[in-house]
Amino acid sequence: MNRRAIVAANWKMNGSLALVNSMVSELNNVTLNENVEVVVCPSFPYLAAFSLASANANLVKAFSLGAQNLNEHAKGAFTGEISTSMLKEVGVNYVILGHSERRSIYNESSSLVAHKVKTALDAGLKPILCIGESEDERVAEQTETVLAAQLQPVIDEIGIERFTDVVIAYEPVWAIGTGKTASPEMAQATHQFIRKFIAKVDENIAVKLPLLYGGSVNATNCEELFAQADIDGGLIGGASLKADEFKIICSAAKG
Ligand code: PGA
Repeated sequence: MNRRAIVAANWKMNGSLALVNSMVSELNNVTLNENVEVVVCPSFPYLAAFSLASANANLVKAFSLGAQNLNEHAKGAFTGEISTSMLKEVGVNYVILGHSERRSIYNESSSLVAHKVKTALDAGLKPILCIGESEDERVAEQTETVLAAQLQPVIDEIGIERFTDVVIAYEPVWAIGTGKTASPEMAQATHQFIRKFIAKVDENIAVKLPLLYGGSVNATNCEELFAQADIDGGLIGGASLKADEFKIICSAAKG
């Protein structure tokens, strides 16, 4: 079946106004396959600038803006936090949630992540829900248990029907920013597990769910990863900071 594919750029705490402008002009002449959407997730201060620059440049319609986090409260005394209405006001459609850096550095639990997923959906934002195992967990053959424990709280919180607006990114923690990519076979086997896990609850939802791979994807390995049956694009960190490399990755995705 032809699922939609997504290539999402996770700039993390990197980038600049100069990168916003160069990325917008590069993406303006990117060649995308049918059914492919590109989502750029810069840091909060650059969201409005990206929105404006892409509107001015009349950026291709398959482009969307994403945030890297949100606060689960609607508004109030939460110094330093960002609400869904603020994100929506500056043109954001997607939000990365449950990234391993937020889980490990900022102690976000799977239940908080599930709550944030619900907050995003309630506001009309599409969550890119990240899940993934550590190296120790992979070695101890606990990958599937870990992924199930990260997914189940989200299913319990939002109900399976709302997964029509969710994108899942499988990101093995040991592959993030390390240059160590999961082999296409290993990534495919894990994606297949994730799809089957969802299918046990609702087959129709599982068949349509975009599953992105993330972890040291670059212009050289993207083609082979994206060719796998259950890999529907990628979540790209380091390689999304170089407009020309990111463009190659976008063009390699197939819906
Ligand atoms: P990486 O990051 O591509 O630099 O490994 C991916 C991510 O953390 O989303």
